[in-house]
Amino acid sequence: MFLLLFLFFLSVNALSNYHESYTGKRISEEEYKEHVKQNTSFWCTNEILPCHPLEGRRVDGSCNNLKYYTLGAVHTPQYRILPPEYSRDDRGFEPKLTKRGNDMPLPRAVRTNVLLEGHLSDRRFTQLLTHFLVHVPGDFLSLHDTVNYVQWKPYCCTEKGKQDNMCIPIKVPDEDPVHRFSGIRCFNLTRPESFQSARCRPNNTLPERIVTSTPALDLSNIYGNNMKLLNEKGRLFKGGLLKFEMVNGAVWPPSIKGPANLCYGNHPPMETRCHDTPESGANSVLGSNLFSIWTWRYHNVIANALAAINPCWDDERLFYTSREINIAVTYQIFLYEALALLMGQHNLINAGVLSPGLGFRDIYDDNLAPQVSMEFPFVLRWFHTLQEGILRLYDEKGYHLRDDRITNMTLRTGYLVDNLPYVTQGAFRQPSAKLDYAIDSDMAQTVLTHHQRASDVFTSDLTKNRYFFFPSYVKYREFCFHNKYRRFEDLVDAIDPERIELLREKYTDVEDIDLIVGLWLERPISGGYVPPTLYCISVVQLVRTIASDRHWYERPNRPNAFSFEQLLEIRKSTIASFMCTVGDSVTEIQPQAFLRAGPGNEIQSCDHIDRLNINAWYDHTCSRKPH
Ligand SMILES: *[C@@H]1O[C@H](CO)[C@@H](O)[C@H](O)[C@H]1NC(C)=O
Ligand SMILES: *[C@@H]1O[C@H](CO)[C@@H](O)[C@H](O)[C@H]1NC(C)=O
Ligand SMILES: *[C@@H]1O[C@H](CO)[C@@H](O)[C@H](O)[C@H]1NC(C)=O
Ligand SMILES: *[C@@H]1O[C@H](CO)[C@@H](O)[C@H](O)[C@H]1NC(C)=O
Repeated sequence: MFLLLFLFFLSVNALSNYHESYTGKRISEEEYKEHVKQNTSFWCTNEILPCHPLEGRRVDGSCNNLKYYTLGAVHTPQYRILPPEYSRDDRGFEPKLTKRGNDMPLPRAVRTNVLLEGHLSDRRFTQLLTHFLVHVPGDFLSLHDTVNYVQWKPYCCTEKGKQDNMCIPIKVPDEDPVHRFSGIRCFNLTRPESFQSARCRPNNTLPERIVTSTPALDLSNIYGNNMKLLNEKGRLFKGGLLKFEMVNGAVWPPSIKGPANLCYGNHPPMETRCHDTPESGANSVLGSNLFSIWTWRYHNVIANALAAINPCWDDERLFYTSREINIAVTYQIFLYEALALLMGQHNLINAGVLSPGLGFRDIYDDNLAPQVSMEFPFVLRWFHTLQEGILRLYDEKGYHLRDDRITNMTLRTGYLVDNLPYVTQGAFRQPSAKLDYAIDSDMAQTVLTHHQRASDVFTSDLTKNRYFFFPSYVKYREFCFHNKYRRFEDLVDAIDPERIELLREKYTDVEDIDLIVGLWLERPISGGYVPPTLYCISVVQLVRTIASDRHWYERPNRPNAFSFEQLLEIRKSTIASFMCTVGDSVTEIQPQAFLRAGPGNEIQSCDHIDRLNINAWYDHTCSRKPH
């Protein structure tokens, strides 16, 4: 009897559902307790209940791939398109040296040399596109690296920073075009969080990035990345709805009661609103805040519509069907509208990112692990060059009311309570910044406003480029286009000669050019507006993301798959129809709302904008008479 009991406990131990997040290895109850004791359980372990082939998409991303069921969950490793390059010294792993063995040129000096500051409006794109491009990456990366040096380790430029290995302050050269007048000689920055800094891996191994989102395109920036958070802060458990509050007659995510310590940018006592949702994207930079509110509302619009046509559906079914539709609509708009405009529809069809037809497609491959590359979220930082600093507010008749500054809206959810209708109207009326080689001054000087005296998002991006240990720009060119680059002149196939000169002023060898700097200066892709190397890295990722996601919305053979008729309704989704459904005071809009209104794209009544018809989800069994 004793022995039986003993064996029983042993097998319970062996059958723990805890896994190491880095290796995916199952660990025992004892090993898990050790993590709790060391306070490493949050980052370094995942509890994963046994997978079922017929279950739907999990909130935590696990069991997406049944072979590699831990990958896909939060805090699991990314992969690299090209192997890392770095140097080592007594501090540990450091950025690589130049080809000749010297330190790389100062990031701020490179940045101010190659990117001009200035202001030109784009003739094609609206601010709504830049807001959306801020929102979507929140689904597969995380913001904690910024919080780190602003809030947790705010001392990197001081003496104390010299003692903290996580600090990597950015040196501002004496002859800096702006700061030779300000006296500022340092920008605060910390190293990217890694499995090593989270104490999941030993410090003598190469730092590997750890992020807080799931790698799938699953709106984890809205629904959160674990069931407990979703149930506590998300679900109302009634009618399939997300929790909500009515403010000025509109639906909003719930707000924190009491001190809003996340919304550092609020101007009290007037501005108090701060969202209490499963993810911090709802109190973040402006674009992310806006789309969090709209996407939150969209869920509830769908849930109410489903409940009205299918009275026999319970809360669970309404909730998860609404979530499926919400995810599908967001990525239909992202791929078939936003990226098609930016990267070229034909390019993306040829590359296999977009389906050529309206029907199903199934490129699922269960040998591919659901993972995001290190490079993909990083190259999206190029879109910072598109960000306009001025926020123009309009009324619903299209009259310009006043201007504010986008960078002032960060972590300032309270600002939106009175201004959301005007910000919304402005989003599809105001142009984005021009896609040129110039950047907005706010983004380049004061991007973190009152949180830092000075901060330059482009210089931070370049510094991070080096701490992510990416090989040089020309290695990515070789990977993507199979060209060899031995001398600066060889770059003429990618970069205009006068910009090659700018590079030559800062780098001694062509092999030293940093990846992001190459992206900044490349001529755009034919048929689109983005740098070809950004395009290449994005396509590699998107094809993999679609092929490795068992629950991808265009698949016919998956648990809870859409019917053909339902998929056709998803395909009707556009950013214009989305804004007509959830945008404050939006009663008219141009049909292609990522593009400026004008001939062929006139602002018109929402009644003329095609929308998803929920009747495709009508369930005949609800009307059957009970026996
Ligand atoms: C334990 O870890 C969590 C998550 O990283 C952190 O928020 C908390 O401050 C840590 N607690 C202690 C006592 O170190
Ligand atoms: C590794 O280094 C990080 C950052 O300096 C530190 O927080 C962590 O405690 C170290 N881990 C170990 C196991 O020493
Ligand atoms: C916006 O930021 C600028 C620069 O930091 C500051 O001077 C201004 O007062 C801010 N405006 C608002 C409305 O917060
Ligand atoms: C860096 O952080 C320190 C300490 O918080 C702060 O005093 C300084 O102004 C910051 N530097 C800049 C350039 O903002």
